[in-house]
Amino acid sequence: MRRSFTLVDVLLVLAFFSDAPWAVKGSSQCKQINSGVFRPHSVSITEFGAVGDGVTLNTKAFQNAIFYLNSFADKGGAKLFVPAGRWLTGSFDLISHLTLWLDKHAVILGSMNSDDWPVVDPLPSYGRGRELPGGRHRSLIFGQNLTDVVITGDNGTIDGQGSIWWDWFRSGNLDYTRPHLVELMNATGVVISNLTFLNPPFWTIHPVYCSHVRVQNVTILSPLDSPNTDGIDPDSSDDVCIKDCYISTGDDLISIKSGWDEYGVSYGRPSTKITIHGLVGQTQLGSGIAIGSEMSGGVSDVHAENLYFFNSVTGIRIKTSPGRGGYVRNISISNVTLADVGTAIRFTGQFGEHPDDSFDPNALPTIERITIKDVTGKNIKMAGLLEGIKGDTFLNICLSNIALNVLSESPWNCSQIQGYSDSVIPETCDPLRERIFPNHYLDCYDLSSHFWSSSSLKRGAWLWSW
Ligand SMILES: *[C@@H]1O[C@H](CO)[C@@H](O)[C@H](O)[C@H]1NC(C)=O
Ligand SMILES: *[C@@H]1O[C@H](CO)[C@@H](O)[C@H](O)[C@H]1NC(C)=O
Ligand SMILES: *[C@@H]1O[C@H](CO)[C@@H](O)[C@H](O)[C@H]1NC(C)=O
Ligand SMILES: *[C@@H]1O[C@H](CO)[C@@H](O)[C@H](O)[C@H]1NC(C)=O
Ligand SMILES: *[C@@H]1O[C@H](CO)[C@@H](O)[C@H](O)[C@H]1NC(C)=O
Ligand SMILES: *[C@@H]1O[C@H](CO)[C@@H](O)[C@H](O)[C@H]1NC(C)=O
Ligand SMILES: *[C@@H]1O[C@H](CO)[C@@H](O)[C@H](O)[C@H]1NC(C)=O
Ligand SMILES: *[C@@H]1O[C@H](CO)[C@@H](O)[C@H](O)[C@H]1NC(C)=O
Repeated sequence: MRRSFTLVDVLLVLAFFSDAPWAVKGSSQCKQINSGVFRPHSVSITEFGAVGDGVTLNTKAFQNAIFYLNSFADKGGAKLFVPAGRWLTGSFDLISHLTLWLDKHAVILGSMNSDDWPVVDPLPSYGRGRELPGGRHRSLIFGQNLTDVVITGDNGTIDGQGSIWWDWFRSGNLDYTRPHLVELMNATGVVISNLTFLNPPFWTIHPVYCSHVRVQNVTILSPLDSPNTDGIDPDSSDDVCIKDCYISTGDDLISIKSGWDEYGVSYGRPSTKITIHGLVGQTQLGSGIAIGSEMSGGVSDVHAENLYFFNSVTGIRIKTSPGRGGYVRNISISNVTLADVGTAIRFTGQFGEHPDDSFDPNALPTIERITIKDVTGKNIKMAGLLEGIKGDTFLNICLSNIALNVLSESPWNCSQIQGYSDSVIPETCDPLRERIFPNHYLDCYDLSSHFWSSSSLKRGAWLWSW
């Protein structure tokens, strides 16, 4: 039956255009920072007595070089050049307006003596070390209160030699929380690019309380059974772009966080405006993209696209718990390819793990406006295990254009979830079965623009096919 356009059709089309978010392209955070800072001054680590034999401890050489380069901070900054060689070191601090440059075949090796990783205060948004009460070991490469800092090179390597820490962790021989490989705290204008990161004792790259961070074209590798070796964890940070990375680790490839229970609530610094564009990887214990479980300062405005996860336990995961407070809101994850993955999408409302007994069990997190679209997968065990919190339903969860080749006979298992879906195979769970179009696309994050994208022309068909 043919049908001519009515005023209602025209108004519907106008409604698509008038919803602002579609105008904000997902990769906007990825366009803002200029990565090619020129440094007028440069020194080599060898000028400070460093020996690249893999045995000599070079902590003093790094510290002295960086102390010297501090005098160039107000003269355009400086570059610390690390040539080919194996440069063993303990933890050292970066400064503002510094480029740490690792040449081809340059390897910075983390000391295997825990004394070379001093113990520092816990993060205020965590209240204590993540694994153990009290302080935590400082990361191998650390920086605090910095602006304009670049860690880059010609595919040089930063190797934490974490296996000794994993052994100490497994045998319960640690007094303090394990160190990250690279941590920047309260920094603005950070670029980490064109390098390889190996074997972190704990997480690999941890920007915390940072703004304007770009991590691009890095390879992160650690054994698939190594404990908690997350790839990149933006934490209470904003304007973050993670682009074109390959990550293969023991835990989450990328995990977006913002503090832990009452400490995260009172610190109150969210992670927002996070763009992930182009991520390939595998994880046997974690997820490709995770949010939480520490999310008490709030997480919003996350756009992740062009993701390929293989041989992994979970594809996309949101983890939270009563006691966290905070929110996870306005999240869009799209163009995801999965191969040989246990659970494609998982929400966990009862993750547990609290810093101490002072958390408020009535501090319930708000989880809403999560859109996952354009996902294909083969050899998936379970499509979705989506568990909200009793009395705190996760709202406006929208699934669009998902085609998974699933082994399980009950591919979706949802509880305390509300939302909508279009074109999901296998057919989704009851709470999400109501259609997105035409009545609910405004309840969904980042879906009004979807109507116009080439990959979803079919979804517009309802408008023309009456
Ligand atoms: C963050 O660093 C700036 C200097 O870059 C400093 O003025 C400010 O006090 C620091 N804030 C915190 C919370 O450490
Ligand atoms: C960073 O800034 C905070 C707040 O101003 C200050 O307490 C801390 O000592 C500073 N740390 C460094 C290393 O500058
Ligand atoms: C990625 O980094 C490598 C060195 O690690 C470099 O050779 C290559 O050109 C970079 N690719 C892009 C697109 O920047
Ligand atoms: C950089 O080195 C890593 C580890 O050797 C390798 O897997 C990766 O392909 C290299 N990247 C580039 C762009 O050459
Ligand atoms: C990575 O390396 C390539 C090739 O040298 C260079 O063109 C590019 O600007 C670098 N990218 C970043 C983000 O440092
Ligand atoms: C989807 O992501 C893949 C990489 O996983 C990329 O090659 C492809 O171009 C993307 N498709 C669209 C429509 O952006
Ligand atoms: C979420 O997005 C809506 C519009 O799409 C906006 O009104 C709201 O402020 C956003 N909330 C957060 C926390 O970003
Ligand atoms: C759904 O998941 C819950 C919690 O994991 C489990 O107890 C229940 O048996 C599952 N239901 C089905 C039908 O698989």
